[in-house]
Amino acid sequence: MLVSSKELLADALKNRYAIGAFNVENMEMVIAVLYAAEETKSPVIMQTTPGTIKYAGADFYFANIRAAAERANVPVVCHLDHGNSFETAVLAFHTGYTSIMIDGSKLPFEENISLTKSVVEVCHAGNIPVEAELGRVGGKEDDLDNTKGKNPFTDPKEAAEFVERTGCDSLAVAVGTAHGVYKGVPQINFEVLTKIRELVKIPLVLHGTSGVPDEQVTKCINLGMCKVNYATDLRIAFTHGVKEYMKGSPEGFDPKKYGAYGIEEVKKYVLQKMILLKNEE
Ligand code: 13P
Repeated sequence: MLVSSKELLADALKNRYAIGAFNVENMEMVIAVLYAAEETKSPVIMQTTPGTIKYAGADFYFANIRAAAERANVPVVCHLDHGNSFETAVLAFHTGYTSIMIDGSKLPFEENISLTKSVVEVCHAGNIPVEAELGRVGGKEDDLDNTKGKNPFTDPKEAAEFVERTGCDSLAVAVGTAHGVYKGVPQINFEVLTKIRELVKIPLVLHGTSGVPDEQVTKCINLGMCKVNYATDLRIAFTHGVKEYMKGSPEGFDPKKYGAYGIEEVKKYVLQKMILLKNEE
């Protein structure tokens, strides 16, 4: 069933687990995430960035995700990841996405507030929840390099004011993760996260989770992270599967054959993360 992220994240917050949000960039990745969600009985968020939407159109991705949701015995959310403008957010909303992120984190504080508020106004009119972002998650995110920040962490007091004034439903915060492939082992600033959690009562979102050690993810969940995003590692897994097939069958030319290898690798990865995010003993 295709659902909004609102109730899923509220339940995750209440019961100290996290919903996995996986970036899907083709039909095979949608299938892989669906199989993993069914096997682990996990509610799941499938998401696309504006860069992905540019590749094939929001309608194509939405149709794929909706088809997966109709087959699934678990709730499935279709989420816009890192919406980069009011127009993109509204496009996703009209396409049928059931959860929208507007990312004004690169803007000055007041401008981020007014952009986020404008998206909240449209989306809430259709009962669609909005994720916003405050602070600088490092690394390359979609097509943008986001590394040149000053204070890399979200300011807890600003976060509380931001949530109050925008009415957003969940908040992506910068606590030491980065998008893309890490050069060293990432170190999450749990002190900052604890302070944010004390002041902000809505679900928090962890971005840039590919490559973050599982123990650190678990600690984040215990401190109130409710949505955990994985993208880069799915790309790596898919491509690894395709390469493996090609290594064994260099003359292969049937996309279904190498696609199946890609599906299997992504499924294996997502399965393991879904078990982690359940946060059971
Ligand atoms: P990674 O590519 O580091 O997994 O980040 C994913 C993400 O945060 C998508 O918004």
